[in-house]
Amino acid sequence: MTDSELIERTITYVQTTLQGAEGGHDWFHIQRVYKNALLIAKNEKVNMLIVSLGALLHDIADAKFYDGDETVGPRMAAEFLKSMEVAPDIVKHVVNIIENISFKVSLKSNGQHQSHFNSKELDVIQDADRLDAIGAIGIARAFNYGGFKNREIYNPNVAPNLKMTKEEYKKTTAPTINHFYEKLLLLKDKMNTLTGKKMAEQRHQYMLGFLDQFYAEWNPLPPKA
Ligand code: ADP
Ligand code: NI
Repeated sequence: MTDSELIERTITYVQTTLQGAEGGHDWFHIQRVYKNALLIAKNEKVNMLIVSLGALLHDIADAKFYDGDETVGPRMAAEFLKSMEVAPDIVKHVVNIIENISFKVSLKSNGQHQSHFNSKELDVIQDADRLDAIGAIGIARAFNYGGFKNREIYNPNVAPNLKMTKEEYKKTTAPTINHFYEKLLLLKDKMNTLTGKKMAEQRHQYMLGFLDQFYAEWNPLPPKA
């Protein structure tokens, strides 16, 4: 099978598997991450097949939707790639990417040792995934997820928790506005690539403008005469 046939088969597999997914983690999220990954990869020395497969498969079974089980996604991706007779070293690299892409992985776990995997291909896909968590799309995804979980939009009496452990992050039921301080506004300083950093900066500013407007509407002043 050629690389482009493999990518086409992967696209079909992902589209089928993600039918009915939550709106922020559906096929269109994958498509945006895939496109941004290809865009960022143009300026990096990376294996394009691994970038493509990693981007397409990175949320094939997000632990959030599987009772916190972080093993389902990597397992499904590995099974699919093996069924396509993909070389074992490529399967392993893609699985490592899926296991290590998440924001949660960078949070400290209660006393547990974390082994971290690094690669240029992971850097590119992680940046592409982070870009989709910020800016206008990031705002839409956050409130969609909050609604999906029946969370409050904002509650002035619930302060953001900036020191969450991985376990607390997975369990939180805090209002969606808090998620901006707990994750979304932190992402621009975590970008790996120069292209990613530049794209993140503009989206970050847009979120700050959104928050200013949000609080101004929450505590409105009378219009100027
Ligand atoms: P990661 O997979 O990098 O750990 P998540 O899966 O937690 O990141 O988040 C992916 C997206 O889901 C976020 O960018 C956000 O849009 C949404 N999301 C996750 N957790 C929350 C939350 N507590 N409140 C609002 N949105 C959330
Ligand atoms: Ni994602």
